[in-house]
Amino acid sequence: MSLSAHLVAQDSSWRQRSELAALADLPPQLDSELERLDKEFWVSAEKLKEVVNRFREELDEGLQENGRNIPMNITWVHSLPSGNERGTFLTLDLGGTNLRVCKVTLHGQEPPNPTNSPSPGQKFSLEQEQYKLPDHIKSSTAEELWTHIADKLSTFLSSKGLDKEYTKEKPMPLGFTFSYPATQDAINHAVLQTWTKGFDIKGVEGHDVAAQLREKMAARNLPLELICVINDTVGAMIASAYNDPETIIGAIFGTGCNAAYMSSLSSIAKLSPSDPRLKSSSSSGGKTTGKMAINCEYGAFDNAHAVLPRTAYDAQIDAASPRPGEQSFEKLSAGLYLGEIFRLVLLDLADRGLVFKDRDVGRLRQPYTIDTSFLSQIEDDESAGFAQSRQMCRETLGFDLADGEVELTRRLAELIAVRGARLCACGVAAICTKEGITRGHVAADGSVANKHPKFKRRWARALGEILDWDRREGEEDPIVITSAEDGSGVGCAIIAAMEMERRGRRA
Ligand code: BGC
Repeated sequence: MSLSAHLVAQDSSWRQRSELAALADLPPQLDSELERLDKEFWVSAEKLKEVVNRFREELDEGLQENGRNIPMNITWVHSLPSGNERGTFLTLDLGGTNLRVCKVTLHGQEPPNPTNSPSPGQKFSLEQEQYKLPDHIKSSTAEELWTHIADKLSTFLSSKGLDKEYTKEKPMPLGFTFSYPATQDAINHAVLQTWTKGFDIKGVEGHDVAAQLREKMAARNLPLELICVINDTVGAMIASAYNDPETIIGAIFGTGCNAAYMSSLSSIAKLSPSDPRLKSSSSSGGKTTGKMAINCEYGAFDNAHAVLPRTAYDAQIDAASPRPGEQSFEKLSAGLYLGEIFRLVLLDLADRGLVFKDRDVGRLRQPYTIDTSFLSQIEDDESAGFAQSRQMCRETLGFDLADGEVELTRRLAELIAVRGARLCACGVAAICTKEGITRGHVAADGSVANKHPKFKRRWARALGEILDWDRREGEEDPIVITSAEDGSGVGCAIIAAMEMERRGRRA
């Protein structure tokens, strides 16, 4: 699309911008409410650029010194993989919703052996179990968390016979994907800065999660050696670069949002070239690659509320969260919150007598009853008379929608998802402009990126608006969002392999 066409699109009203077919004309009162919501939720290209400018500054500040708003965490991952990493590893992934344990075998460039490689040409094989994290764990204690994790590790090891194959003297190498902000003095050390994604487990913030996990594993006699603690964004970048050399960034658009990229050491002012940790983390012979993967933790962007277009609903979500004032950017754009924003808007309209009259809105009053997939299903509903959306609302909220209300929920789901996708483009745009990156692949993972079919298109369009691309039909964009390989499993195993190689060992 040409720049002028873009400008027309930006100035057009929501009615012209909407990608949805209309069902019914709305009553005038609802119509004007929708106009108001559109004004509050639409982020123009001009505003996106303003957000990106401040974003760049905050990314830079985080590289200057510790303790700034966006922490720009140093990860001790010094290079992208060669593609030839090999070995067998256990990986543990503590995500926002699940705990996943995998046995990953990396084949490197070896011609895959048809007996152990599930699909020809695949450079790894993987066996995994996913365990749903019980809700109460998220607000429990360190003791409960690590006991639960050690239980699952132990179950996995015995179910796969790995407890017989490995011993305490010859342990299985373990990689841990811990997707929360952490300060690392080494790759096998990670002090939790603050919980995000609604977690509130006592006794972990300010502590080294690697040490806590190690202690529990030792108490259980598990034959495992913790080699690395990584963030999911770094895992996504590394796993994708294992196959795709054009990978420039690993990004998660899921329950939370964040990204990682390779920075040159000289840009990281807070890390002195004579820092002894650099020497001990570099390859044998004390040489560094001159690079470092940075886990931005940019969900914290604009905690000062200087530029983000926050609505009263966003403020409500923040105030009711376990860590008010933190993760401001994430609270406007990540999967954990999109459904909650939607619920709060509907509840506000209901309380003002504009929708759902004479129906019991008890379920709508319960926080977090609506998740992101609810929004995407409403937006994608092409069933006759939107029967599917009506059915979903009946099941989730316990009442039927009138025609005008179906129309309203569809528009609202769209407004919230579009705002989220457009803001998500700002983080990546800030990294690219700061680093002078003009081409490459952004390896993206997470429920919003994968399960919301319109997300990638909306994200790409916003990125083009920010970077002033002259997009032409059929031409590939210079910066493309791709589907990341499995970062928390395969990516974590690759990082463990790179670390063992650096230490002169093989798994
Ligand atoms: C966490 C990050 C993580 C992101 C995506 C955020 O809440 O702080 O560490 O990368 O979610 O999972």
